[in-house]
Amino acid sequence: MADVKRICLLPGDGIGPEIAAEAVKLLEAVGEQEGVTFELTEALLGGIAIDETGSPLPDETLAAAHAADAVLLAAIGGPKWDTTDPARPRPEQGLLGIRKALGLYANLRPVRIFEPLRDASTLKPEFLEGVDMLIVRELTGGLYFGESAREADVDGASADGSAGMLAYDTMVYTEAEIERIARVAFDAARKRRGRVHSVDKANVLESSRLWREVVHRLHAAEYSDVELLDQLVDNTAMQLVRMPAQFDVIVTENMFGDILSDEASMLTGSLGMLASASLGDGTALYEPSHGSAPDIAGQGIANPLAMLLSVELMLRYSFGMDAAADRLAAAIEATLAEGWRTRDIADAWTLPQRTVGTSAMGDLVVERLRAPR
Ligand code: IPM
Ligand code: MG
Repeated sequence: MADVKRICLLPGDGIGPEIAAEAVKLLEAVGEQEGVTFELTEALLGGIAIDETGSPLPDETLAAAHAADAVLLAAIGGPKWDTTDPARPRPEQGLLGIRKALGLYANLRPVRIFEPLRDASTLKPEFLEGVDMLIVRELTGGLYFGESAREADVDGASADGSAGMLAYDTMVYTEAEIERIARVAFDAARKRRGRVHSVDKANVLESSRLWREVVHRLHAAEYSDVELLDQLVDNTAMQLVRMPAQFDVIVTENMFGDILSDEASMLTGSLGMLASASLGDGTALYEPSHGSAPDIAGQGIANPLAMLLSVELMLRYSFGMDAAADRLAAAIEATLAEGWRTRDIADAWTLPQRTVGTSAMGDLVVERLRAPR
């Protein structure tokens, strides 16, 4: 019987459809090579879903995601839907909603340096020696999902001292939430270099103090073979650019992880190189860590590599196709080694004729996958 893998594809907004098209091309090639049929079902998420249905996460999309073996998302959002009006829907609600609904509590963001891209980083190459880290971002709790609201007519809240508005977001974590994400980090570290940095703000936040207690308790009970280091998030932000090679696995709260992973992506040269896997107990979701880049949407110049690297993670984590994932990684590496670059990763040494657009970059990777050299 044919091996069929069902993928729910969410192209989303901005450059999303352009990079999604490259993933589709790639999956066709991988499928042919591996004797697997990837059955793709497209669904709406984000701004396009708001335009077509009024909701950033329509019921049909959620149903399609639940029915699939894996979800592949490109990017959502854009100025068209930017609003500060709490009554109007935002594309991001679709993304947060699907993460929550699928129970995707663990967001894995691997940060590795592609040797040919060393010079594309804004850091001096010698600081990139040995950089290979995994950011484990808690994804369904914390500041993103705590109670949040606006209140009107609050005494003294306006600038002139009269009644005005206030707004709040809260950072909430249960022991259970902390323990399950810490477990993901420790398990990952055991398969890597055996070191976990648990990043918090325990000198200020109560939720961070509970975080620290729970992480240490689990460590002592089950993972004492793994090295555990606590680091305050402001220090981590600094250490990431001071000495990034010190990190193996970083585990942290939702918003801290959001910010630190954008920062860490620049070690690789571009946010366009950072893939991510969001895992829970059911269907997993794969997406680039970058956004929908509305400023370059529709121009065919976006870097599709984070999307293709997200496919690599999908092959590994959802389909157990490690050999195919390795071949894909090698094809990307080979493409870069030959000097091919999208604009975001081009540097002073890039030949103009090797600076290519989205679709050409996708073709080059597929070619090298089909005929490795
Ligand atoms: C990310 C993005 C999202 C997040 C946005 C688009 C809601 O920045 O995946 O890192 O903050 O989680
Ligand atoms: Mg982010």
